Amino acid sequence: MTATLFRGIGSLYTGDPEREEIAGAALVVEGGMVVWVGEADDAPLADRDVDVDGRAVLPGFVDSHAHLVFAGDRTAEFAARMAGRPYSAGGIRTTVAATRAATTPALAANTAALVAEMIAQGTTTMEIKSGYGLTVEDERRSLEIASAFTPETTFLGAHVVPEGDPDAYVRLVAGRMLDACAPYARWVDVFCERGAFDEDQSREILAAGLKAGLQARVHANQLGPGPGVRVACELGAASADHCTHLTDADVDLLAASGVVATLLPGAEFSTRSPYPEARRLLDAGVTVALATDCNPGSSFTSSMPFCVALAVREMGLTPLEAVRAATRGGSAALRRDDVGMLRPGSRADLVILDAPSYVHLAYRPGVPLVAQVWQAGRRVV
Ligand code: NIG
Ligand code: FE
Repeated sequence: MTATLFRGIGSLYTGDPEREEIAGAALVVEGGMVVWVGEADDAPLADRDVDVDGRAVLPGFVDSHAHLVFAGDRTAEFAARMAGRPYSAGGIRTTVAATRAATTPALAANTAALVAEMIAQGTTTMEIKSGYGLTVEDERRSLEIASAFTPETTFLGAHVVPEGDPDAYVRLVAGRMLDACAPYARWVDVFCERGAFDEDQSREILAAGLKAGLQARVHANQLGPGPGVRVACELGAASADHCTHLTDADVDLLAASGVVATLLPGAEFSTRSPYPEARRLLDAGVTVALATDCNPGSSFTSSMPFCVALAVREMGLTPLEAVRAATRGGSAALRRDDVGMLRPGSRADLVILDAPSYVHLAYRPGVPLVAQVWQAGRRVV
C-alpha cells in the first residue's frame, strides 16, 4: 500500500474533539484511510508527498439531508415567493408530477448532476431521500437510483399525501410501499407538519419503518410549532431536521435524548423565513448539524460552503461551530464515526481550500474556495 503525506497544511481542522485544530500540520493517508495526523515536524516518511502549500484542510462535508431524485424545477414558484407569496408544502406535488413523468435514465442523470455539484463544493458524504414519487413503484425506483450514489438512502414516502384519502395513503406507505422500498433504504423519514402528516400518522409510519429494520429521521417543526421533535425524540430518531419553530420543551427533549438537530438554512433563505435559533440549541447542549436540504422547492442549493456562511451570518454560529456542524455534526446525524473527522481510522475524505483557514468559508461567501477534494484517499476534484 502507498502512503501519501499531505504536507504544508497551513491550518488543519480535524473535527476530532481531542485536538480540533492544528496549525502547521501534516497528515498521512494509506489504503483510503487517515493513518497519522500531527505537527509537520513530527511527520513520518511516506511513499509520496502532496504539498498543500499553506492552504487549509478540513474533512469533506457531510450533507445529511438532501432530496436529489426529482425532475423539473420550481423557478416560477420561487419567483412568486420573492414577490410575496408564502411557501407551501403543496408545491411538492408539482415536482411529484414531473418526477413520475420522467424516464429512469433522466432521473438518474439529474441526480448524478446534483451529486457532482455537491462533490465539487466539498461534500464527500451525502444522504439522499426519495419523496417525489409517492407511488410504490416511483418511490422504489427513486431509492434504487439514490443507492447508486450513497449508502445513506432515506425512504420518504411520507413527504405529502399525493392524492386521495390520507388514511389509505398512510396505510400504503407503512405497508406495501415500505416493503418495496426497505431493501434500498437505510433510513425512514416523515414530513411531520401541518399540511403533511400529523403526529399519529408520523408515529405509525416511523414505527413501521423501524420494524422493517430502518432507522428514523424526521422533518420536524419547519413551518410552525408541532409534534415533530417530540416524535423524533420518543422514537429514538438519529436526527430532527429543520427545527425552525421550537418550544423550550422541544429544546430540552433534544438535549436530553441526544437526537441531533439538523439545521437547513438554505430553506429559510429560499423561503424568506426566520432562521432557526442555533445559539439556543448549542447553549442547551444539543448536537447541531448543518445540511443543504437540496430540493427544487424550498432550498435549491447543493452548497455546504453557502450553508456554513448562512449559519455564521444569519444564525449566530462562529465559523468554528459552523464548520463543526457541517462535518462532525453531519456524521452524528447519520450515526457515522468514519467520516466528518480527520483522525487515524477516519476515511480519507479531505477538502483543500484556496484559503489559509476555514474561516474564509464565511468570510468570503459565494467565492469558490474548494481547490481539491479527496474521497477515501483518491482525488476527485
Ligand atoms: O425539506 N419539508 C419538506 N420537504 C422539503 C421541501 C420539498 C419541496 O418543497 O419540494 C424540505 O424543505
Ligand atoms: Fe427536506
